Amino acid sequence: MPIIAPSLLAANFLNLEQECRMLNESEADWFHLDVMDGKFVPNISFGLPVIEQIRKATTKTCDVHLMILDPGNYAEAFKNAGADILSVHIEACPHLHRNIQQIKSLGMQAGVAINPHTPVNLLADILADTDVVCMMSVNPGFGAQKFIPHTIEKIKQLRKMIDEKGFKTLIEIDGGVTLENAAEIIHAGAHVLVAGNTVFKSSDPKKIIQQLKNI
Ligand code: DX5
Ligand code: ZN
Repeated sequence: MPIIAPSLLAANFLNLEQECRMLNESEADWFHLDVMDGKFVPNISFGLPVIEQIRKATTKTCDVHLMILDPGNYAEAFKNAGADILSVHIEACPHLHRNIQQIKSLGMQAGVAINPHTPVNLLADILADTDVVCMMSVNPGFGAQKFIPHTIEKIKQLRKMIDEKGFKTLIEIDGGVTLENAAEIIHAGAHVLVAGNTVFKSSDPKKIIQQLKNI
């Protein structure tokens, strides 16, 4: 069964406590938390104080996706705010190996996020140290975008790289995931589905999560 990680970027921020409760009662596995700095991506979302509060509202895994420059300057702060998994973008990290070691030494699982234009073979020498690859299936910065079809090919390639080496790295697909394309994404080899709008903009989010889980 896939791991389901609803993205709270699409949640109702006026009712965040209620949204957290809904996810707690649902079959969701992870809370996907999107942090944007207005530099690495052309948008600004939420940051440390919000994650600190969300941490108090759930015991589920907090999966923090950093779309920021210089993530190394903030890794410890995100650990303190409650992140269980911390993902940094390969495109934002000239010393990615150092970033990954830092995240692990702080006691978090380490994720590497990759943009749609970044070839998966650039991950070859970091995969052994990576717990999760957050593969973007839209250009990061905004929710409610359309899934980029070429992602399916990239999932297959990455899954092959992981299986050939016998690694345990999880493939997480982020952006434009719907009930319609989820099966194809899982079939291509992904383990984790992030879903923002598909979950939160539905009239029955728990049911959507259950459907994604049982895809
Ligand atoms: C985009 C974020 C995604 C986003 C997904 O930059 O990384 O996690 O919230 O939202 P949907 O599922 O609506 O595409
Ligand atoms: Zn994300």
